[in-house]
Amino acid sequence: DKGNHRHFMAKEIFEQPEVIGHTLSEYVNPLDDTIRNTDLPVDLASVPRITIVACGTAYYAGLVAKYWFERYARVSVEVDIASEFRYRDAALTEGGLAIFISQSGETADTLAALQYCRAQGQKILSVVNVTESSIARASDAILPTFAGPEIGVASTKAFTCQLTTLAVLAIRTGIARGAVDKTDEARLVRTLMEIPRHVAEALASDEHIQTLSADLAKARDVLYLGRGHNYPIALEGALKLKEISYIHAEGYAAGELKHGPIALIDEEVPVVVISPVDELFDKTISNMQEVIARGGRVVLISDKAGIARAGDGLWAEIEVPPVDPLIAPIVNAIPVQLLAYHTAVSKGTDVDQPRNLAKSVTVE
Ligand code: M6R
Repeated sequence: DKGNHRHFMAKEIFEQPEVIGHTLSEYVNPLDDTIRNTDLPVDLASVPRITIVACGTAYYAGLVAKYWFERYARVSVEVDIASEFRYRDAALTEGGLAIFISQSGETADTLAALQYCRAQGQKILSVVNVTESSIARASDAILPTFAGPEIGVASTKAFTCQLTTLAVLAIRTGIARGAVDKTDEARLVRTLMEIPRHVAEALASDEHIQTLSADLAKARDVLYLGRGHNYPIALEGALKLKEISYIHAEGYAAGELKHGPIALIDEEVPVVVISPVDELFDKTISNMQEVIARGGRVVLISDKAGIARAGDGLWAEIEVPPVDPLIAPIVNAIPVQLLAYHTAVSKGTDVDQPRNLAKSVTVE
């Protein structure tokens, strides 16, 4: 049932405040601002290293999680694509924790990577949306995402619920390792509790994004740029756009621009820059100015202060609420989902069932 939406994807995008709220209520206790202690297969205090493996959008959730684990728990994390990881004889530390992220829980490469990790003496934890799935069954423990069934081939609400779950896990790891004290925990939990409200605020740009997408639909190539935790969101924005609108898109770390991709920039190439005001803002904005100077058409996703500071020459802007850096990647996922959605609708492609794609990839 699509409710009053034209596509499952739209329904699932707009469900996000609610399902993120469900996910949070499973993992945090708002009464005393603490993280709940669900069963885990490892002692987070002593885990030497974390390996995260997934495919597609779930892999990008893993990339964001790396920033969180490093910042809040000071633990070293490696993230890999399952189809690469499973064949490359990865050297893993005995007693390490391996985390698998999968909406369906049936992705063949992710499952094979899990079996490899088990054989290498890793503890297996999976973040899955389908709790009765092959990956869930093969794990020592699961952290379910409470996104509800996701029908659209393009993953949206599963992604933000994966992020929410992983943010909680990173903070919990920080607590176990003494990097997050009681005061920090309370502050971080209160910040997490604000995600649904801020996601709802980001969704309010829907109509504006729809208008702008009519132009984006004419592009042949689109670049997405971000730094830090917004770099995986740039990758996710590009994947979402190519997957459902068939427009070629690439996500880049903004600092890599001058190492090659800047050669692509001309008046024909829209560049989506994801950069709310944070410690990397000035760096990203200076990359953005280089794009503008070469005639690139920039769509800036930022908060009010960031848009005001960005200077002249923007082609379009999309405002997101100013939020704590912890939850920024979750909020910033919303405009890139809406951009892809409306661009695809504008092109008339089959949004929920894009050509050549399956919802779960059970063959390698
Ligand atoms: O079910 P999974 O999370 O394991 O699926 C992984 C990818 O196939 C999936 O995220 C894919 O990239 C989506 N279609 C992206 O929107």
